[in-house]
Parts: sequence; C-alpha cells; structure tokens
Amino acid sequence: MRDYESIVILTGAGISAESGIPTFRTHGQVSYWEYVDTNGVPKKHRVEDVCTPEALAADPELVHRFYDLRRAGLASVEPNAAHEALARLDREWPGALLIVTQNVDDLHERAGATRMLHMHGALKQALCAACGARFDRGDDLPPGTPCPACAAPRLRPDIVFFGEIPYHMHRIETALAQADLFVSIGTSGAVYPAAGFVRLASAYGAATLELNLERSEGSGWFDESRLGPASQLVPQWVEEMLSR
Ligand code: APR
Repeated sequence: MRDYESIVILTGAGISAESGIPTFRTHGQVSYWEYVDTNGVPKKHRVEDVCTPEALAADPELVHRFYDLRRAGLASVEPNAAHEALARLDREWPGALLIVTQNVDDLHERAGATRMLHMHGALKQALCAACGARFDRGDDLPPGTPCPACAAPRLRPDIVFFGEIPYHMHRIETALAQADLFVSIGTSGAVYPAAGFVRLASAYGAATLELNLERSEGSGWFDESRLGPASQLVPQWVEEMLSR
C-alpha cells in the first residue's frame, strides 16, 4: 500500500447531515427554506436563491434572517463521529494535513480540528462590506448593523454567496499541489471550484478517495469511492490511516 505524507481533505454538507444540519442536494433533491413571515404568511424559497449577492441587495431582511436562524441552530447540534475522527487525524497525523470545509457550521472546530479552512465562510463571523474587517458574531446580525471598525452600517454574514470567490484559494491550491492524498467527504461535487479539486489533486499526482452516502457528480474522477454514512466511513478510514 502506498505511503502518504501530505493529505488534503475536502468536506461538504454530508459530513454534518448526521448532526442534524440539512444538506443541499442529497438524492439530487434541492433544499428549500420554509418559514412563516411576520404577517403569518407561509413562504418557501430555494435555499440557493437566498444565498446570493442579488438576494442580499434586494431583501437584506430575508437573507439576514435566513443566516440568523442557521446561526442560532448551531446551539442545538453537536459534532458527530465523522467530525471527531477528522479532529483525531488532525491531532495524530505526523505529516502535512489540511481540512478544507465548504460548510459554514462550526462542527469541525468544535470537534477539535485546527488545521482547517472555511472556504465558503462561517456562520459565526460577520464581514463588513465597506472595509472588509471580520468579527466573531454569535448572535443575530440585523441588516444595517454598524461595523465596529469603520462604523459603516454594512455588516453582513461572512458567507461566500453563489457568484462570489471562495476564500483561501491560493492556500488550498498550494496544498492540493503538494498533496499525495486527496479525500472528499460528504459533498455532491455540484459546486465549483471545490468540485474541481479532485482533478487538480490528481493532475499533481495525488491518490484520490471519496467517502459519500451515494455516488456524487464527480465520483468518476476518484481512484476509489466508498459509499455509506460519514459517521461510519470516516472513523474507519481514519483508523486505517493512523495504523499504517
Ligand atoms: N454521510 C455522507 N454523505 C452524506 C450523508 C451522510 N450521512 N448525507 C448526505 N450525504 C451526501 C449527499 O449524498 C450529497 O452527495 O453529501 C452530499 C451533500 O451534497 P450537497 O448538499 O450538495 O452539499 P455540498 O457538496 O457541501 O454543497 C456545496 O453548495 O449550496 C452550496 O455553498 C453551499 O457549500 C455548499 C455547496
């Protein structure tokens, strides 16, 4: 069996599904946000239609409320066995390791992972759209909240919306170029640039492994795909890696 030194792990919504956070596209289904508005009228939006710069400009109340509810929801979920296993790998793997998550929840860090990046932002952070400063934010973020640094009333959730450029791309691409193993966990492979990481890593010579509930859009690009729930597959794989 090949020996590895440098691992890049990409995680998506599937790793947090068993903690109770809904995915965007399991079994090809699109997820919706359903709620009752302040006039008592039931509303339903495609989640992907809420997470855009256009939606933020057109209806900031709606977009901020969407993220306020998700931020508040973090209080009632816990990391699962898959997050715990990756945190263990992070602690015990002697080589280079980078966990790149597309998730905006904080379950990797709550499990104890430290060598990680949020490429799509984080629910518990606010970003000033005027000066670019970032702040920790645990509670609601109403539109028009002034920035503590520049006072502009333009704090927004620090989330990478559809059409915006993900964070840390230079660092991620450098790690992918150096990786000898790329592992993708719980992601549908529907959203770029993350969906392209497998081909990039492969082009640089890394072995590639997918751990997902079902075949993803990118399954054909991986050397190996293991299908099943992350809470089972990830601890098994981590055990394999640490007992090599
Ligand atoms: N274990 C492993 N995989 C699972 C589990 C589970 N328990 N439950 C679901 N999955 C798989 C689904 O089969 C699906 O292939 O996880 C994948 C989740 O895919 P998406 O919902 O598309 O999530 P993700 O790939 O992270 O989405 C990427 O799209 O909407 C945007 O910005 C958002 O970061 C997100 C990006």
